[in-house]
Amino acid sequence: MTMLTFPPEFVWGVATSAYQIEGAVHEDGRGESIWDRFSHTPGKIRDGSSGDVACDHYHRFAEDVELMAELGVKAYRFSIAWPRIFPAGRGQVNEAGLDFYKRLVDLLLAKGITPYATLYHWDLPVALEDAGGWPARDTAHAFADYAGFTVGALGDVIKHWITINEPWCVSFLSYQVGEHAPGYRDWGKALPASHHALLAHGLGVQAIRAARSDAQVGIALNFTAPVPASNSPADRDAARHFDGYFNRWFLDPLYNRGYPADMVADYTSAGRLPDGMAFVRPGDLAVIAEPTDFFAFNYYTRELIAAGPRPWEFRPLRIDAPRTEMGWELYPEGLYTLLLRLHSHYGIDNIYITENGVSYVDPVDPEGRVHDQRRIDYLREHLTACHRAIQAGVDLKGYFQWSLMDNFEWAFGYKQFFGIVHVNYETQQRTPKDSFFWYRDVIARNGF
Ligand code: FCB
Repeated sequence: MTMLTFPPEFVWGVATSAYQIEGAVHEDGRGESIWDRFSHTPGKIRDGSSGDVACDHYHRFAEDVELMAELGVKAYRFSIAWPRIFPAGRGQVNEAGLDFYKRLVDLLLAKGITPYATLYHWDLPVALEDAGGWPARDTAHAFADYAGFTVGALGDVIKHWITINEPWCVSFLSYQVGEHAPGYRDWGKALPASHHALLAHGLGVQAIRAARSDAQVGIALNFTAPVPASNSPADRDAARHFDGYFNRWFLDPLYNRGYPADMVADYTSAGRLPDGMAFVRPGDLAVIAEPTDFFAFNYYTRELIAAGPRPWEFRPLRIDAPRTEMGWELYPEGLYTLLLRLHSHYGIDNIYITENGVSYVDPVDPEGRVHDQRRIDYLREHLTACHRAIQAGVDLKGYFQWSLMDNFEWAFGYKQFFGIVHVNYETQQRTPKDSFFWYRDVIARNGF
């Protein structure tokens, strides 16, 4: 068997997010977020659960950092809960919230683990949602203030910053599909929300640079590989539209190409832009395209796209193929093609994969082991795709496995398990799965 070796400085990491692991939602002055409210609204979360306790990481972070040290990761991507820093979104600072992240980061640094902090992983303070949420332009300014302040306060110990996690989820999944908080189904909210999430990123980059000139900053998009279900013109056009909706709508403005004209035309023809792109004000596109230090994306699967009832409308096609517990098709090839596309079509360097992983249910056996061979296979295949892309010239700098531990999986609650560490939610006991030990070896050997 050949050994696949990664570049010497390759950053091996794991990722989590605040609401999914911290719990302690009422502690030390934390304000309410849209996910607190949403998860306590009957019918929104599949198992009726919430992140109230989650993995109780707020109290157990030392144990979790210890696990990461044992794993040997070089980096840890976590998110900062905005409502812990500014309980009402802006204005009054909550020092106790800042202290929590200081304690976490001090411990990480003591173990030689580099922190990568995401400033927004979906927990918008409710006060800002009540003032209009992401469809309101002012939220972008509130984000920039929060970002500048937080980087000013923590930038001596945290050098790597991710502004927004997955603006597609922040806008479309939350304001158009309605599956995520605050749960609207309204294109009239979702389209401005998408712009304001990007604007928040751009204003955030400026505020972060003003606060700390040595900060490394980027954004994390989520990509789904779009594949036309057939070569028919209708299926190909639907796939074009899906790619525009999911990927290009965010990528193009970030890289100075403006919003994709084909998408603006599609949305206009469907009556989704009654006032045109009036939410885009002069100068906004330059702010959004503010240069960054790295580019990050999260990858899980592909979507096979067939034509819908009307021109360019799409219909995801479910073929009989191996799927994960989430119902997502296994498709490592998509990771390779997306990396190549960023490299050759957009000329992007300094790329990080900030999430990649898989949900499977595997129990703890009587010997206290979790045999999650399917997760090992998934990780191996996706890392092989990464390695191929590097060989092909892609400047991939690092890979963060999602997730360190089983956690609150948003609308699915505690029914999806992405962790390489199993969590028993009754006892909060952590049990490293076989994939944990496999990944530990990968890191130690810088390959597999
Ligand atoms: C991503 C999210 C992350 C997690 C994974 C499974 O979209 O960023 O929080 O839920 O999916």
